[in-house]
Amino acid sequence: MTRYFLGITGASGHPYAEALLRALVACGHDVDIAITEAAAKVMRQELGLDPGARGELLAAALPGRIGAEAARRVRVFASGAVEAPPSSGTSLTGGVILCPCSMGTLARVSVGFSSNLVERAADVALKEGRKLLLVPRETPLSVVHLENMLRLARLGAIVLPAMPGFYHRPQSKADLVNHVVGKILDRLGVENAVGARWQGLDEPDEDQGLGRSVPEVPA
Ligand SMILES: Cc1cc2nc3c(=O)[nH]c(=O)nc-3n(C[C@H](O)[C@H](O)[C@H](O)COP(=O)(O)O)c2cc1C
Repeated sequence: MTRYFLGITGASGHPYAEALLRALVACGHDVDIAITEAAAKVMRQELGLDPGARGELLAAALPGRIGAEAARRVRVFASGAVEAPPSSGTSLTGGVILCPCSMGTLARVSVGFSSNLVERAADVALKEGRKLLLVPRETPLSVVHLENMLRLARLGAIVLPAMPGFYHRPQSKADLVNHVVGKILDRLGVENAVGARWQGLDEPDEDQGLGRSVPEVPA
């Protein structure tokens, strides 16, 4: 059993965070969570879940969302709780994951600016040489975004953008989400069967539109 820190920010992509939380707990791990104030707004929009302005309602909502047993493995901290254990390098963790990671949080982490518990936990991971995995979601990317990601990658962080592939022929939103979550778990070294694993090319078939000729453009 390992304890992970999941920092949820105000980028789009909260279904990734929920699926990741479920998967980590299902794999027998404990998870500490903190959400930023912007994340609270996006969570309400994307998951239909009201975590309170600073995440103060999230702990109470979790059992109904992921099940009571799973929720017992999760500690939720307020975004401003810089006194919480994840703020200190003495508090051990198997990895800090920022998912989804906004460009704002990514920028602040890249320069060591820790204005809340999410950013501080990431800063601690960098200074302690522990796994820091960021799942940015933004498009298009500016030079500022790209330079910040490059700086973090050079510092040893793993930058794993929320970019689901289509080669596994996803049939649902869950398939797309799980593709990204499986990659996160793989990179953390958590054994899992969450995402479909590539088995080689299928035969082209009509339904998937593969191998069809390009339709002629009418004159
Ligand atoms: C519905 C919604 C979706 C957003 N999506 C993104 C996004 O995908 N990527 C991003 O960098 N910012 C996104 N933002 C903007 C961030 O929430 C905003 O920059 C915020 O200040 C980030 O704060 P944080 O880094 O403390 O969470 C979104 C905001 C809203 C309300």
